[in-house]
Amino acid sequence: MCGIVGAVAQRNVSDILLEGLKRLEYRGYDSAGMALIDDPDTGIATIKTVGKVANLVAAAKKQGASGNLGIAHTRWATHGNISRANAHPHDSSGRVALVHNGIIENHETLRQELIAAGYKFATGTDTEVIAHLIHQALENGEGALLPAVTAAIARLRGAYGLGVIDRRQPDRIVVARSGMSLVIGAGIGENFVASDPLALGQVTDRFIYLEEGDLAQLTSDSIEIWNDGRRVDREIATLSGKAAEMDKGEYQHFMQKEIFEQPQAIRDTLSGRVSEEKVLEEAFGVSAGKIFDKVKQVQIVACGTSFHAGLVAKYWLESIARMPCQVDIASDYRYRDIIVQPGTLFVAVSQSGETADTLAALRYANAHNRKHVATLAICNVATSSLVRESDFCVLTMAGQEIGVASTKAFTTQLTLLLILAIVLGRRNGLASEDEARLVRDMNGLPDLVDKTLQLDKEIRKLSKQFSDKHHSLFLGRGIQYPVAKEGALKLKEISYIHAEAYPAGELKHGPLALVDSNMPVIVVAPNNDLLDKLRSNLSEVSARGGKLYVFADEGIGLESDRSCKVINLPGCPEVLDPILFTVPLQLLSYHAAIIKGTDIDHPRNLAKSVTVE
Ligand code: G6P
Repeated sequence: MCGIVGAVAQRNVSDILLEGLKRLEYRGYDSAGMALIDDPDTGIATIKTVGKVANLVAAAKKQGASGNLGIAHTRWATHGNISRANAHPHDSSGRVALVHNGIIENHETLRQELIAAGYKFATGTDTEVIAHLIHQALENGEGALLPAVTAAIARLRGAYGLGVIDRRQPDRIVVARSGMSLVIGAGIGENFVASDPLALGQVTDRFIYLEEGDLAQLTSDSIEIWNDGRRVDREIATLSGKAAEMDKGEYQHFMQKEIFEQPQAIRDTLSGRVSEEKVLEEAFGVSAGKIFDKVKQVQIVACGTSFHAGLVAKYWLESIARMPCQVDIASDYRYRDIIVQPGTLFVAVSQSGETADTLAALRYANAHNRKHVATLAICNVATSSLVRESDFCVLTMAGQEIGVASTKAFTTQLTLLLILAIVLGRRNGLASEDEARLVRDMNGLPDLVDKTLQLDKEIRKLSKQFSDKHHSLFLGRGIQYPVAKEGALKLKEISYIHAEAYPAGELKHGPLALVDSNMPVIVVAPNNDLLDKLRSNLSEVSARGGKLYVFADEGIGLESDRSCKVINLPGCPEVLDPILFTVPLQLLSYHAAIIKGTDIDHPRNLAKSVTVE
C-alpha cells in the first residue's frame, strides 16, 4: 500500500529517496514518483513512472535528478486509475508538491470549490485537492508553509499521512498525520520522514513516531512538532539494524524464507511466554491478570490471514477456555449493531497493526463507551498504531514479514492465541495438569514444524500437477476448516488459481457438483474424532472422478491410490493440528506459484499492509 519517503539534507537526497522506496516495495504499489528541489529558480523537478520502483530509478538516472530536499512515494491506486499522471507527488501551480497516504472523503466537494476558485485539475486522485488547498492558503497570505498546511488540513475529512514541500521555502518539509502512520528519522545535519522506519534504515536508526494529529516541520538541522496548535516533544526511539534487515539470504523469495523461518519464529514467540509446563501470563503485561479475571467471552476482529487465525482460536477458546467466542471480519464489525455482552474481551489480531479496518474496529470498540473489559492487540509490530491504541498487547515475535502472503505471522498468531486460550482456561476450570500437557505440547511445536518442512521436496513434485489447473477445492472439518480457508487463500493470492474452501461436511450441499478430474480437491486430515466422517467425504469425491490430495497424519494409515495422493505429516498432539497442517499448504501454494511464474512476494493487485478502508 502507499509509501512515503522524504529527506532534507545538505547533500543530494535522490538516492536516499529511491532506496527508501525500494525498501517500501513490500507494501504493494502500482506506480512511483519523486519531487526534488535543487535550485528554487528552476522549480520543483518531478519524476513519475508506472510499475516498479526500478523504472523510477532508471528515469531518475536518465534525468540526472538531484536536490537537497525531496519527497517520494509509491502509490496503490484508490481514486483514479493507475497512470503516470495519478502517481504522486502531486503539485499545484508548480509551487507546492506533496505526497499523501490515505483517503480524503470530502475530495469531491473540495474539488468543486477549487474549480470555482480557478484551479485546474490534472489528475483523478483525491490527493490533488490538498495540493491546491495548500497553494490557495499560501497565496492568500499565509506565507509560510506550516500555517498553510494547517489551514488546508483543517478542511480535510478522511485519513492522511502527508509530506509537503514549497518551491519558495526550499529548506523544509512539512508533514502531517491523521489516521496514517508517519515516522521522522533523525539524522545529523539532515532529517527524514517515512511511512515506515524500514524505509530509512540506510540513513538513521533514530526515529520519532508521530501521533494522531501531529504536524511537524523538518529542516536539515531541526525537527519541530505541533499537536492541536501546541508545540510538543516526542521521544526519539532507537531501532536496531536488525529491525531494518531485508535480506533473502539463501532463499529465492521472502515468502519461502519466511515459511522456513517458522520454527524459529514460533520458538521466539513462545520464549518468555511459557515455562516448561506453565503459561507465564505476566507476558501479557502487569495489569493483564486482573483483566483476564473479568473475561467471560471473547470478541476477535481481524482481516485476511489474521482473520483465519481468529477462526481457529474460536475452537480453542471453546474447548480449552470453555468460553464463547465471536470472530468478525474487521471491515464489517463497525457497521453492525454489535451487542457487547458483559465481560467481553476485545482482541484485534494483525500482523502489521496498521490495517485500516482492524484499526477502525478497535477505535469503534474503544469509542463505544468502552463496554468491553479491555482491548488486546495481538500484533507483530511493536510500534504499530494497533499496539499503541489497545489497552494491552502481546507481540508475535515473527520478525519482519515481507512477502505479501502472510505465513510466519499466521503461525505465530496461532501460537499466541493458544496461549490466550490457556490463560483464560485457567480461570474457567482448566486443570493445572491439563495446562502442563498443553504447554509441553507447545514446547514441542518448533521441532514438529521443522519436521513438516522436510516435506518440501515431495510437495514441490506434487505442485506440478496444479500448474495447469484453474480451480481447486480445499476441505477441512471442524477446526481444520479455517486451515483449509487459509490454504485456499494462499493458493489464490500467489498462484492466481481460483481456490475455494468448504467445511468437508458441506461437500454434498453444493460443491460436489463442481468435482471432476480438472478440479483438484485438497484435504487436511488430522487424526481426530472426525476422521471417519472425513473418510466418507473423500469417497464422495473419488466416486465422482475427482482427484484428491490429502495431507494426513501419518498415524491414520491412509495410502495413496489412483484417485488419491496422500502426503503424510508427522503425528502431533491434536491441539497443534491447525498449526502443523498449515505448513504444507503454504509450501503447496509457493511451489504452484513458482511453476506459474507469478510475482510471489508482490502478487498483482495486493498489498502487504492495507491502510485504506
Ligand atoms: C493484507 C495482506 C494479508 C493480511 C491482511 C491483514 O490483505 O496481504 O496477508 O493477512 O492484509 O493484515 P494484517 O497486517 O492486519 O494482519
